[in-house]
Amino acid sequence: MTMQIREATLDDLPAALAIYAHACETSTATWDYEAPTLETMHERFGQRAAANHPFLVADAGQGQIAGFAYASSFHPHDGFRFTVEDTIYVGEGWQRKGIGRLLLDALIEDCTARGFRQMIAGISMPGGDQSLRFHEAAGFRKVAEFPSVGWKHGHWLSAHYLQRPLGEGADTLPE
Ligand SMILES: CC(C)(COP(=O)(O)OP(=O)(O)OC[C@H]1O[C@@H](n2cnc3c(N)ncnc32)[C@H](O)[C@@H]1OP(=O)(O)O)[C@@H](O)C(=O)NCCC(=O)NCCS
Repeated sequence: MTMQIREATLDDLPAALAIYAHACETSTATWDYEAPTLETMHERFGQRAAANHPFLVADAGQGQIAGFAYASSFHPHDGFRFTVEDTIYVGEGWQRKGIGRLLLDALIEDCTARGFRQMIAGISMPGGDQSLRFHEAAGFRKVAEFPSVGWKHGHWLSAHYLQRPLGEGADTLPE
């Protein structure tokens, strides 16, 4: 399997949207009930680029996108500007083949190079064990849990937050 991790382009958004839409409908991996429209994805893509937040895809060749990962603001306030939240989705038929790890490693490297110092992963539970194990395997540690703050598919969901320092983390001052 040849898998290229590269920056996303607008042409990748329909494939990324298809992966995300499937997760919206079939899982509690995302709090969204429905996927955004392609137009909204285009807008958000532009906003991410303007905010210096990377958006990567796993390109399997022959026009196939196996997964995607991007960073976004953990909170919009200025004081959080060195902290990003990751979002990562691998298409169902591509999971557990190491693609998520390739994407996350590349996202961590990219965010570190851009000067971000902390990465947060927000995971909904129950149902998020796979993502929890996945992030722990990449060096994230659980730092917070908000019980029953979400509702989807007839269940209360808790938000678990994991955190991983990027580069020198809080050991040195930024910039
Ligand atoms: C979570 C997700 C991104 C992981 O991607 P993936 O390509 O399936 O994971 P990888 O094959 O790269 O796994 C890397 C490591 O993570 C851990 N891991 C991944 N899936 C796991 C599972 N189901 N159970 C236990 N550990 C798991 C393992 O340590 C694994 O290493 P190993 O295979 O050598 O044991 C992917 O399964 C996915 O898209 N899930 C649905 C959406 C989702 O939950 N996204 C996260 C939202 S925050």
